[in-house]
Amino acid sequence: MTFPRKVNLYEVGPRDGLQNEKEIIPIDVKVNLINKLINCNFKEIEIGSFVSPKWVPQMADSEIIIDKINKRETTSFPVLTPNLKGVQKAIEKKADTVCVFVTASETFSKKNTNCTVSESLKRVEEIISEVKKYNIKVRGYLSCVLGCPYEGKVSYESTADLASFLIEQGCYQVSLGDTIGCGTPFDAIKLFELVSKKINIENIAAHFHDTYGQALSNIYAVLQMGVQTLDTSVAGLGGCPYAKGATGNVATEDVLYMLKGIGIKTGIKLEDIIEVSWYISNYMKRLPNSRVARAYVNQ
Ligand code: HMG
Ligand code: MG
Repeated sequence: MTFPRKVNLYEVGPRDGLQNEKEIIPIDVKVNLINKLINCNFKEIEIGSFVSPKWVPQMADSEIIIDKINKRETTSFPVLTPNLKGVQKAIEKKADTVCVFVTASETFSKKNTNCTVSESLKRVEEIISEVKKYNIKVRGYLSCVLGCPYEGKVSYESTADLASFLIEQGCYQVSLGDTIGCGTPFDAIKLFELVSKKINIENIAAHFHDTYGQALSNIYAVLQMGVQTLDTSVAGLGGCPYAKGATGNVATEDVLYMLKGIGIKTGIKLEDIIEVSWYISNYMKRLPNSRVARAYVNQ
């Protein structure tokens, strides 16, 4: 078995984690959460979305948050942008990275972004040609890669073609998203094998939601294929407003605990992220959706 020596944990809690919360979380709490994550030493923290506030009300304050956080050179702060309007805001706010998101599922594309897959690719082209002028990096997301809440099975070949399109357009990385957390390790291996025939494995990130409790097993499988970036969410926060029933992203603490067990370095201390996990969970008056965070407090 071979594993990477180092793995980059790409923290999605403030965006993918919080976007699905019904109660609007105060700006100060979001800023504290992000500042605490910065202190944990993450290299990338996705801090919000410049999407329509009518579609995702929880992210409406992302423009304020990006100004208030304690930015530092060694961390980048990607924001999600669905169209040119979002990109204009990202440019105004001097975002260092924007994230585009597409899917091979026509129905999910319509439900999530109100456009067809081919229209969404046009938007990606527009976004990338605009941000290139400002030296802003672009990350690509592919959703519903192991199953769609509306269409069921989604073609792995179509996902692989889209991954190749995103890299050709100029994305530095493509994150393969199991949006509804339904995939199992054999599915994940098949998909990642197919995608890695089209783009370098170093350019693939794994984004597993844990709805069916498969995320850690899936991660363990794709790590052995050479995946070096894992999207994780503090306290296992998360869900997609347009993927009914999808629960949180895999918890950062749980992944970190497993990586430590294997001997993979991340630059993040488990105790630090557990403290952040309890901070946001206490605010929400619930237990962290992380077995590790709960186990630590009971020791
Ligand atoms: P639309 O309704 O077709 O947009 O939505 P429109 O162009 O017709 O504009 C309608 C209104 O929205 C207008 O305002 C626009 O100005 C405004 P009005 O005139 O009615 O007052 N608007 C915007 N406002 C702020 N920022 C913008 C923006 N664009 C338009 N950027 C749109 C199309 C794409 C905007 C909408 O569908 C949308 O915002 N979708 C985003 C949905 C979303 O954020 N989903 C969750 C993220 S994806 C995810 O979680 C998956 C992921 O984690 C990976 C995985 O797990 O698989 C990434
Ligand atoms: Mg997600």
